This record gives sequence, structure tokens and C-alpha cells, in this order.
Amino acid sequence: MNIYLIGFMGSGKSTIGKLLSKKLNMPFIDIDTTIEQTQGKIVSEIFSEMGEQKFRELEKEIITELAKNNNQVVALGGGAPCFFDNMELLNRNGITIYLKMSPTAIYERLLQLPPKARASRPLIANKTDKELFTFIASTIEKREPFYNKAKLIISNEGNDTSSTLERINKGLLFYSKNRTVEEKN
Ligand code: S3P
Repeated sequence: MNIYLIGFMGSGKSTIGKLLSKKLNMPFIDIDTTIEQTQGKIVSEIFSEMGEQKFRELEKEIITELAKNNNQVVALGGGAPCFFDNMELLNRNGITIYLKMSPTAIYERLLQLPPKARASRPLIANKTDKELFTFIASTIEKREPFYNKAKLIISNEGNDTSSTLERINKGLLFYSKNRTVEEKN
């Protein structure tokens, strides 16, 4: 089974994903990094030179490719679950975990990003702090119907990664005990 971490920018998917992959002894894959490696361009260049639509198509291609392999911890870009039928594909293929944080907590985290890390995210690169908060709140509202399709919804509020990992661990145990016979086959 693959484990897919989804959630908004700044919700800790890469940090938690790396720790989880170590704990479970499974390789860690970051979809944005994979896209950058295959294209030889960073995400912001892909957005500016090829457009967001092309980026979303590249995300879908990588998700489809990764679904052919097993036992990986995969961190997805914040928008990836919200395009095409990606969420259905992910749910058919593995355990999706929505790392949930409130808009205020996300805002605080994104404000703390070093300028380079903010510039590397084209959707927020040129926003003032005020515009950033409005963008986060309205985009989370649009994206949550997709995120909420995740098999596990785990809070990553606060900066306590070990508590989040503990909640994920419990969630995974609960999930493996309770999934239906149909899902086991
Ligand atoms: C995006 C999130 C980014 C990256 C791209 C678009 C989004 O990934 O895929 O900048 O649409 O929310 P992170 O969530 O890893 O920052």
C-alpha cells in the first residue's frame, strides 16, 4: 500500500512524510521534486513558462506512474488532489492522509517561510501578507471537499511533529483493522 499525504501548502506534508517514511522504512517521494527532476525546471518556471494547466497535467502523470508501485510514502503538492479524478485514483491505490491545519495556522507558517521558499510557490509568491490570508482562507474552502475524501484526517496544528506522527500511527492501525473485506481484496 502507498501512503499519500495531502493538504494545503505549509501543512507539513514533506516534513511529516520524511519522518513517516523513516519510521515505516518506506521510500519517500515528493511529487513536486519528481516533476522538477523530470522537467529539468523548478515549479515556478513550469508555471511561468508552461502554465498552471500543464503543471496539473504533469502532476496527474506522476500520480498515475507512482500508483504502479507499492510501499512508498508520497507527499503531494497542495493542489494535486483537487484536479481531474486524482483523489479517486489515490484512494483506490493507497491510504490518503489529509494533514489538516486551520487557515490561521497555515498563514502563520507561510509567513515564516524564508523568501526563497515563498518565491518557489507561484500561487503565493507575489501576494502581500493581507492578500495571502484571503487567498489561504478562500482556497482552503474550495479545496476541502477534495481533501475531506481522504481516508484519514489528521490534525497537524501546532509544531509537535511527534504528536502528529503518533496520531497517524493510530489512524493507520485503526484503518487496517476496519477496512472492508472489499478493500482488502
Ligand atoms: C501548489 C502547491 C505546491 C506546488 C505548487 C502548487 C498548490 O506544493 O505543487 O506550487 O496548488 O497548492 P506544496 O503544497 O508542497 O507547497
